[in-house]
Amino acid sequence: MEKVCVVGLGYIGLPTAALLANRGYEVHGVDIQQDVVNTINQGKIHIVEPDLDTFVKAALNSGKLRADTKPANADVFIIAVPTPFHQKGYDIPTPNINYVIDATKAIAPYIKKENIIILESTSPVGTTEKVAQVLKEYGVDIDEVYIAHCPERVLPGKIMQELVENDRIVGGIDEKSTKKAANFYKNFVTGEVLETDAKTAELCKLTENSFRDVNIAFANELSIICDKYGINVWELRELANRHPRVNILYPGVGVGGHCIAVDPWFIVSDAQDKAKLIRTAREVNNYKTEWVIEKIKNEVLKFEIELGKKPKVACMGLAFKPDIDDLRESPALYIAKRLMAEKLDILAVEPNIEKFDEFEIYDFKIAIQEADVIVFLVAHKEFRNLNIINKKVLDFCGVWNKR
Ligand SMILES: NC(=O)c1ccc[n+]([C@@H]2O[C@H](COP(=O)([O-])OP(=O)(O)OC[C@H]3O[C@@H](n4cnc5c(N)ncnc54)[C@H](O)[C@@H]3O)[C@@H](O)[C@H]2O)c1
Repeated sequence: MEKVCVVGLGYIGLPTAALLANRGYEVHGVDIQQDVVNTINQGKIHIVEPDLDTFVKAALNSGKLRADTKPANADVFIIAVPTPFHQKGYDIPTPNINYVIDATKAIAPYIKKENIIILESTSPVGTTEKVAQVLKEYGVDIDEVYIAHCPERVLPGKIMQELVENDRIVGGIDEKSTKKAANFYKNFVTGEVLETDAKTAELCKLTENSFRDVNIAFANELSIICDKYGINVWELRELANRHPRVNILYPGVGVGGHCIAVDPWFIVSDAQDKAKLIRTAREVNNYKTEWVIEKIKNEVLKFEIELGKKPKVACMGLAFKPDIDDLRESPALYIAKRLMAEKLDILAVEPNIEKFDEFEIYDFKIAIQEADVIVFLVAHKEFRNLNIINKKVLDFCGVWNKR
């Protein structure tokens, strides 16, 4: 197995392609975006990820990696394209596997006997089976190839390390597929490679993120209950966690990112009458964001009534979690935008971003000086131990309160 074709060169596909090329595989990377292909072929990268540039440059220099908009023949095909969701009005969001299906159709003409096809995209249960069906419809004899799912669980910021060190779950559409795909990963993964079937592997990844979502929902709900009683949720959390079998997570302004806020819907949309807790957790986490917006608006109203003028409100943090620049599905960004849309005087702060297309980003020290109301939305390290005097502070992430 010398040649690998990686389809989708984003946060997952490009690091995977670069890693494999540095391990001696001949890698053909594919992306539908011509500018992505051009950037990579110049030895550059279009995403922010530590060490990735070094890997890509080395892979290009050694001639082991090239990018193209079209697939090519290979021994192993890895599909790492996006799996977002469709949202229509107030319906339950449903998974959008169109990118996976398109990628499958694109590789079908290049697949030969004994090839391994691996779906790495986070996928609803049954997607690997659908990939097999599409390949069959497009003329591939699926009894002569190996088809498996291997969900990716790397943490952005540590991708190059975790691609190698994390345990991997590999589930084939049949046993021989599982074995073949697992053996491929064993060539470069130092973590354990655990074998199962495709459906279990698919649900495993969705379960991991739903577990996180449910636990965060508990913390978020608790913060709203504490607010009703005037209790400091950060203190309560610390006290309750002294119980040897209790471990409450940190509440926040909701749940964001492209995984935890998305993947539980893949279970809920397909098992609506079964996934009651998972659905409720999603709703609780979304509700927390709305609740935060209402709290801020009430504070602004109080200020206006008491002082007869409109306050400046510093929204501290826009990313979906602390100490990163990622704004995808970020509840903090959503809150800032909603407040701006409602004509509040907002000073948006995000120390991990210099410029933003839609509005001005303020330096956090200037924003604190200028604002009348300071709202902590994300617990970035820059916001710890700030000395704020004579300002109204709303801390929804525990960075200023006891933590
Ligand atoms: N980013 C993460 O941290 C992470 C972690 C675990 C799992 N995942 C999952 O991995 C998958 C990929 O995520 P990502 O973050 O790499 O996405 P991404 O958006 O960063 O990259 C996907 C790339 O695929 C390309 N693409 C789309 N359709 C294509 C097609 N038909 N052929 C070729 N290229 C195509 C896009 O142009 C894009 O460059 C998703 O299912 C995601 O949920 C991501």
